[in-house]
Amino acid sequence: MFNERMTEKIRAAQRVIDANKETVSKGEMRQQYHFMPEAGWLNDPNGLIYFKENYHFFYQCNPYDSFWGAMHWGHAVSDDLLHWEYLPLALAPSHEYDDHPQGGCFSGSAIEHNGRLYLFYTSAANSGGGVIQNQSMAYSDDGINFQKFEKNPIIVSPPSGYDMVDFRDPKVWKHDEFFYMVVSGKKDQLAHALLYRSKNLEDWAFFNVLAESRGELGYMWECPDFFSITNEQGEKYVLTFSPMGVEERTSIYLVGEMNYDTGKFNYSTMGTIDWGLDYYAPQSFLDKKGRRIMVAWANEWQWMPWWKDWGPTYKEGWCGSFNLLREVVLDEDNRLKFLPINELKSIRLRECTLEKEIIEQEELLIPTADGNSFEMMLTIDLTKTTATQFSLKLRCNEELATIATFDLAKQMLYVNRDHSDNWSNGTSKSTLLLQEEERLIIHLFSDQSSIELFTDNYKTNHSLNVFAGSDQNKNFLSVDKGQLVVEELVTWSLAKTML
Ligand code: FRU
Repeated sequence: MFNERMTEKIRAAQRVIDANKETVSKGEMRQQYHFMPEAGWLNDPNGLIYFKENYHFFYQCNPYDSFWGAMHWGHAVSDDLLHWEYLPLALAPSHEYDDHPQGGCFSGSAIEHNGRLYLFYTSAANSGGGVIQNQSMAYSDDGINFQKFEKNPIIVSPPSGYDMVDFRDPKVWKHDEFFYMVVSGKKDQLAHALLYRSKNLEDWAFFNVLAESRGELGYMWECPDFFSITNEQGEKYVLTFSPMGVEERTSIYLVGEMNYDTGKFNYSTMGTIDWGLDYYAPQSFLDKKGRRIMVAWANEWQWMPWWKDWGPTYKEGWCGSFNLLREVVLDEDNRLKFLPINELKSIRLRECTLEKEIIEQEELLIPTADGNSFEMMLTIDLTKTTATQFSLKLRCNEELATIATFDLAKQMLYVNRDHSDNWSNGTSKSTLLLQEEERLIIHLFSDQSSIELFTDNYKTNHSLNVFAGSDQNKNFLSVDKGQLVVEELVTWSLAKTML
């Protein structure tokens, strides 16, 4: 009886997806190799985990509309992190603590314990006095059918002094004999990462404030994640989150030391995971080889300075995709690198190379077999280059282009999409750390509706949605003044992995 309510809700939502999915799959703006919902709305990645021989991706979704509302958890599995099979929805709003059109089953995470898969999520409801966010749990033995825990919510309201409306996004992990959970909280208009502890996954006690903003890091940290990572010098801990109220930063990471006796994290390094206009709410998981893989929602909320809307794909009955999966690596300087997963090499199709070495006062067509869905590696020899600036003009037709400008003199990178598609706007910008470097390597992925650019040894990345039509399949390397010396330029068209 208790869980029949959710089963019914899942069946009803599933009928809507099944009725729409064929039409949606024909949409012209559908991505070729980025994860998307079958139909309807998608935002954050949730509960990413390797469980019983499969990778499970859950995601915030609204099956009833191409806009946010009444959050469900979508579900898909993969055995190679490239090809995905959609499963029935995992969670649906169904109980007084999580059933509301402006609430539902908000973001959270997964953990395996004794062969069982546990999901932790924020149950958001409103019984008349405003939205209230609590933490709840669900579990499954087969990894497909989930039961909500009878005693939900498992954490009712934040510690005293914290806002009831902003208490969300539990990420759970195990360390020695305890399970830990980091949840985002807000106090006196400042963001706090709240740390809880449990011995059995059911009973949780507030432990300490893991880390907090003193104003410089905003008023709320959505989707916090916490994990350990090692390099040759030893072990460090990383806290990541999407801050509200830090202008152009959508994804921050902090690297430091964790003290499990006190529940305090002290950080000494801060960085931005991705400077692009469409990278939000990243969550990470350990894959079966022990790599730390990070996945994010390729979009944005209204409070971002450049926000316009979520793009035109709603006309095709869907909205939202994930950015490319990235392997997180701790570099010697304690900064993080985010590398597109190696598996992507296996979907490379036709290779094209540029034979020309010196580019001077010209707009050179980049050879590609498919100028829409492709990968590019470009290596510039900085020791011989005299140009102080060059640009990549991407996904162009006669009128439209997305322009990535590399200002070598000022060491800045800008990606402008004001003329990308008659829809998008905004420019992402970051520094370029060229210092002593002899080479500048640019790794770029273009899909039907997005561009992702990695540089500075994968420490400076820009991900942006670009709703370019299929006729926008020309890409140029452009130099106005001086010489640009290209050591290597290779492109590959990429195979379609999504339905
Ligand atoms: C982040 C977020 C989360 C919340 C979810 C709701 O994108 O706002 O904080 O749990 O989306 O869908």
